[in-house]
Amino acid sequence: MTEAAPATTVAGPAGANGTIFEAEGVVKRFGGIRAVDRASLGVREGSITALIGPNGAGKTTFFNVITGFYRPDGGTASFGGRQVLGRPPYTIARLGMVRTFQITKALARMPVIDNMMLGAPDQPGERLLNVIFRPGAWRRRESEVREQAMELLEVFNLTQLAGAYAGTLSGGQRKLLELARALMTQPRFLLLDEPMAGINPTLGRRLLDHMQRLRAQEGVTFLFIEHDMEVVMNHADRVIVMAEGRVIADGEPHEVRADPAVINAYLGGATPGGDRGAGGGPTTGAGQPPGNPR
Ligand SMILES: Nc1ncnc2c1ncn2[C@@H]1O[C@H](COP(=O)(O)OP(=O)(O)O)[C@@H](O)[C@H]1O
Ligand SMILES: [Mg+2]
Repeated sequence: MTEAAPATTVAGPAGANGTIFEAEGVVKRFGGIRAVDRASLGVREGSITALIGPNGAGKTTFFNVITGFYRPDGGTASFGGRQVLGRPPYTIARLGMVRTFQITKALARMPVIDNMMLGAPDQPGERLLNVIFRPGAWRRRESEVREQAMELLEVFNLTQLAGAYAGTLSGGQRKLLELARALMTQPRFLLLDEPMAGINPTLGRRLLDHMQRLRAQEGVTFLFIEHDMEVVMNHADRVIVMAEGRVIADGEPHEVRADPAVINAYLGGATPGGDRGAGGGPTTGAGQPPGNPR
């Protein structure tokens, strides 16, 4: 665990037990369905924590609730000691808890580099005032931001597309741009919903390497939803498992993989076979949830 934090850190220190984020009894209903049903979990500061679970377990909904995109029906959640549940996404993001945003229609009509620069932490208003009253300072800041944007585009192999309209990017390239843009905000806690889905394996590896680097160099904490158990086993240091709206397991990857409750959740109660391959856990066979881009 690293203590270094990016300059934009706004939230307070981690809890006594090292958790930077804590959710307690979070509920989200859609009509009669409890998509998230009293989910409780903690994320350790500086960890790369995976959130796994069968399709429909409520993972994406949980993300949407804790980042302010859906209104919660119950529970509490705090980030760096501050209550975040029920607050708007913008407020939560300003505290340093950031998720990726889809490229909207308006953003699709802008060049990739502009999409990136909009992700920089300055307020648009502040920026505008700087342009008017402190043109020199703004130009310096602008060139810094541009440089930072180009560095990130390089990491994700998007350099050649800096001038292209975001709307012309392929699905995989868009996902990378969404991620790169989230990184422009210099988050302290980054939430990623299946970041590897739809991205070629080489870029996927680069993305994982970059996550490790951000954690090591800047102490960024990650919570990522992932269905590829190979990725989870190799890259996560904690794994949290959801099923039917609840958190059913939480631990180190090898512990979680061997947990009967987890195996049951994936296999729908079938008896697992060997220790790997034919159903030794959430990795394979019938238990492997199909890749879901949502
Ligand atoms: N906007 C929505 N309106 C109604 N039901 C939804 C909505 N989003 C998700 N659900 C339902 O909530 C449950 C959890 O879905 P989701 O959070 O997408 O699961 P996961 O990401 O784990 O696959 C599913 O039953 C899904 O059909
Ligand atoms: Mg999902």
